[in-house]
Amino acid sequence: MQEKAIIHNFTLIFFFLLVLETNTSYASMIETSKDPSLNVFFTPNDLKLGKSMPIFFSIKNISQIPKPLTQKIAEKIPFSTTNLSYLLNFFSISEASPQAKAMEYTLTQCELEPMEGETKFCATSLDSLYHLTRGVFGSDGGGGGGVKAEATKYPKNFKTELQKYTILEEPIRIWAPKILSCHLMPYPYLVMYCHSQVSDTMLYKVVVVGENGDRVEALAICHVDTSEWDSDHVVFRVLNVVPGASAVCHFYPQDNIVFVPHVES
Ligand SMILES: *[C@@H]1O[C@H](CO)[C@@H](O)[C@H](O)[C@H]1NC(C)=O
Ligand SMILES: *[C@@H]1O[C@H](CO)[C@@H](O)[C@H](O)[C@H]1NC(C)=O
Repeated sequence: MQEKAIIHNFTLIFFFLLVLETNTSYASMIETSKDPSLNVFFTPNDLKLGKSMPIFFSIKNISQIPKPLTQKIAEKIPFSTTNLSYLLNFFSISEASPQAKAMEYTLTQCELEPMEGETKFCATSLDSLYHLTRGVFGSDGGGGGGVKAEATKYPKNFKTELQKYTILEEPIRIWAPKILSCHLMPYPYLVMYCHSQVSDTMLYKVVVVGENGDRVEALAICHVDTSEWDSDHVVFRVLNVVPGASAVCHFYPQDNIVFVPHVES
């Protein structure tokens, strides 16, 4: 039953990714602000019904979302920086191209040792994503009821633009003693980078409405203790706070899937 539910969740999320029509006007975004993507950070004080703030919900160009491979096929293709030249040749990608750089970046990120207290993996198929996720949470998810996938949901025909959004409903805190966050990596086929950190975090579902009427069911996370964070982290500049002084939060883009233990209610 659990297995079915999770695969159903994956299917739903990937279906969402696939049915979305993108029509991103990057030129106008750049005019609006130097780096609109920084408009995702906030502090817990902002998490109030009626609060307005500029938010940039990024969206992937659908034609650029790589297709998933089956586990059988993915397992036959090496996935290592030591095999990069073989892989570039295999996928007919020229060595000097941006695609080659992206592949190298992804392989390097996937090979990085986890930080202290962190669990990380890269999944090269949906089956392996499912199995590795189960491995992180244990078969009972730590909550006795398996694992559940959460993600930000955009409305149909959503177009990325930096605009003011207003919190439409009382934010809901999601019970999540453990969080595994996964995002798409640039690669010729679907690769998800997932990491889980044992840290003080709070996960929220926040329904917001944009000035243009777009209703987004946003997933947001707040990191409570930032005292050990690098003071150069962009979040501190954007929010004008110092490490440890305040919890910092950010909204997730749609292509970021967050796994949490699932409790039957
Ligand atoms: C999406 O990607 C395709 C292929 O790279 C490109 O032709 C198209 O212009 C892109 N669309 C947008 C909206 O960026
Ligand atoms: C990948 O790299 C390993 C280590 O260098 C090597 O043993 C293996 O043969 C390579 N695989 C392919 C398909 O080139």
